[in-house]
Amino acid sequence: MKLAPSLLAADLADIAGALDLCEKGGADLVHFDVMDGHFVPNLSFGIPVLKAVRARTRLPIDVHLMVSNPDRLIDDYLAAGASRAIVHWEAEPHLDRLLDHIRGKGAQAGVAVNPATPVELLVDVLPRLDFVLVMSVNPGFGGQTFLPRALDKARRLKRMIEISGAPVEIEMDGGIDRDNIAQVVSAGVDVCVAGSAIFGTKDPLATMSELRERARQETV
Ligand code: DX5
Ligand code: ZN
Repeated sequence: MKLAPSLLAADLADIAGALDLCEKGGADLVHFDVMDGHFVPNLSFGIPVLKAVRARTRLPIDVHLMVSNPDRLIDDYLAAGASRAIVHWEAEPHLDRLLDHIRGKGAQAGVAVNPATPVELLVDVLPRLDFVLVMSVNPGFGGQTFLPRALDKARRLKRMIEISGAPVEIEMDGGIDRDNIAQVVSAGVDVCVAGSAIFGTKDPLATMSELRERARQETV
């Protein structure tokens, strides 16, 4: 299991401190949520903040674009330091082209699906993908409650990936915490995003190791 702490839940007056915690805690990725106030009813970080984060950490940055028309700014996000770029299925009519473009620029390409979007819609795009992000909350806000039906989606997606033979990872985002991470990993999820469950606790380092431990226990 790879752990991707979400900066959205960090102390935003001390992003450098949050990045230190990610590194010390052995995070595999830093999850960076971009919200445009249009695709989702909230605003978060943009390109200048991504550049600043890139300059402060060696960890790969997982850029989750919760934006309309992601094709318009994708090159700027890639140039600013996105190691992985995630576009929403619901926001992009020309996914095939955009995913090829992202990979052509040397980044990993991911597609996110909202809770109401069936993973079966991805069957023809799996060969263009490095990973799928299954949303386990409706995107736009941190700190929401995990939607358990995301687990079944992950299982269905896992079967699709096995049938396709494409080396596609499954990532899950929203409401993952110490109580559900074992179920999440058991459903076939490779990358767990966690915001409030890490940065909302008094000791984020201890929480990261507890999350890893709980994820491991279930999968043995
Ligand atoms: C929600 C974001 C998530 C968010 C997760 O729209 O995409 O990445 O930061 O936060 P938690 O773990 O608090 O649900
Ligand atoms: Zn996210």
